[in-house]
Amino acid sequence: TTSSKYPTHDIPISKANPLNAQSEDPSTRAYAIWISETMLQQTRVAAAIPYFEKWMAKWPTVFDLAAVKEEEVLSVWKGLGYYGRARRLLEAAKGMLAAWEEKKKKVEGGKRKNEGGDDDDDDWDANDEDLRGPIPFTVGALMKFPGIGRYTAGAISSIAFGYPEPVVDGNVVRVLTRQLGLYVDGKDKKSLDLIWEAAQRLIEHVAGETSSPSAIPGLWNQAVMELGATVCTPRAPKCEMCPVRRTCRAYMEGEMLAEGKTASE
Ligand code: ADE
Repeated sequence: TTSSKYPTHDIPISKANPLNAQSEDPSTRAYAIWISETMLQQTRVAAAIPYFEKWMAKWPTVFDLAAVKEEEVLSVWKGLGYYGRARRLLEAAKGMLAAWEEKKKKVEGGKRKNEGGDDDDDDWDANDEDLRGPIPFTVGALMKFPGIGRYTAGAISSIAFGYPEPVVDGNVVRVLTRQLGLYVDGKDKKSLDLIWEAAQRLIEHVAGETSSPSAIPGLWNQAVMELGATVCTPRAPKCEMCPVRRTCRAYMEGEMLAEGKTASE
């Protein structure tokens, strides 16, 4: 191929996507992502890893978690801080199982009705996809459970289930404001709304770019977070090794300033 500028574009999506190499079903993956992203909200990656491994060894699925006592969950969480996170994980696991059982009953009831000669599908609204597992796959359904905010919902929906949903954490705020040249601080509600909207539009756009590995929403979201954590750091960002500096507004403006020009020239 002639495209030497973007070598990764030559890698077929199926091989470039580590999610495809995972053997777990989406629901098991969703559980692992839910637990890890919840731990990572107030804890650094290196500090969270041993807690995550211990948690997953004890309770590898949402079914295992829903069956344990709060004291047990808190004792494994001991040292991570913000114990409300652990309590809400347990509460949400129980709520998800209850909601799932309800939904299954509804679907079964609806099927029986249909077998009885009624062909009207309006009798139940859940479809078979809803029954893949207790963990919902849309942001709206996920956010109904305690402790799952827009960030965690977006992470589960995109990374585990492949939906084009954005995630915005502190790293993403920094990468997007620099890349897009948004002169907002990303702390007040108005500028955060703007960043979430930009992130939403971007992921919908890249999800449509079927020839690019970045079209996989979960990979895109994690790449932006990782770029912010490793390259596009708050102070002394490593712009010279940044893979997206060519399109970065802040980088370009810095270059122009260094050359003694202004953006309007
Ligand atoms: N920080 C928190 N969650 C992350 C993820 N999924 N990928 C990269 N950095 C993260």
